[in-house]
Amino acid sequence: MKIISTAKELKEQVKLLKLSPLGFVPTMGALHNGHISLVINARRKCPLIVVSIYVNPTQFNDKEDLKNYPRTIEADLDLLNKHLRKEDIVFIPYDKEVYPTEDKRIFGFGNLDNVMESLHRPGHFNGVGLVVSRLFDIVRPDMAFFGLKDFQQVAVIKSLVRKLKFGVKIIACPIVREPDGLAMSSRNRLLEKDIRKRAPVIFKTISRAAEMFGENDVPGIKKFVKSTIEKEEGFRIEYFEIVDDIDLIPIKNKRGIKKGKHYFGCIAVKAGKIRLIDNIEIPLA
Ligand code: PAJ
Repeated sequence: MKIISTAKELKEQVKLLKLSPLGFVPTMGALHNGHISLVINARRKCPLIVVSIYVNPTQFNDKEDLKNYPRTIEADLDLLNKHLRKEDIVFIPYDKEVYPTEDKRIFGFGNLDNVMESLHRPGHFNGVGLVVSRLFDIVRPDMAFFGLKDFQQVAVIKSLVRKLKFGVKIIACPIVREPDGLAMSSRNRLLEKDIRKRAPVIFKTISRAAEMFGENDVPGIKKFVKSTIEKEEGFRIEYFEIVDDIDLIPIKNKRGIKKGKHYFGCIAVKAGKIRLIDNIEIPLA
């Protein structure tokens, strides 16, 4: 694999190799098997891939979160080295490559701005839009790979691609979990030991909620999820919503279900000091 830090060098290298389709996996580092699953998917479809590592300051609405975000570049490169081919590229841009001048664009993502993560992390997705559009401009990929772990982010990126007319296909990849069910996340390593031990309650509870959907309506399921998770000391729910996968409009009851759509139960939990998100598809009988 090649390690590149400037947009100019990246563009030259991609042009030289003349391999298509070009795949792109954007990350913020602190890599784990969730990230690697995207790399493996990308490798399968693309003879050349670019993996970026950039902790994007504009998407952190909380300065402490940015400061504490794990940075493990040596381990990241070791891990990528095991999965990338010799021509594949790791792009670790300097700040001035991504933001040569202050980027003041404000996107509107319609209903996506008014639900779930957007209500709890104001400005977060605008920052994601800024960095991903800048990275797409630099990398010019044919396909870009994102994890369904960040369910709302996938919808935001698809909306961004439509809005800015990028010629890139967005591939959404399944959630990778720890053996005990906890969705892999760079933030898991920040969990206190005791909280980490009990964190599987999140996936266990939303899995049960998905099963309950046949026999119960939305308010009862929400109540179950809240009370089960908050029974654990140190766990507090920020939201649990059942939404469709396009506009992410929360349904209040089963009458809100629209034919032909897929529904997901999406949750955010403050576990000790750390915020965790997860989701699961709700089977419609
Ligand atoms: P980051 O949190 O590093 O995640 C990079 C990609 O890995 C995202 O598409 C995310 O959904 C995916 N991912 C993380 N954990 C996963 C898991 N357990 N299973 C499957 N995929 C997983 O998301 C970001 O970075 C940033 O917002 C970014 C898009 C890079 C823009 O800065």
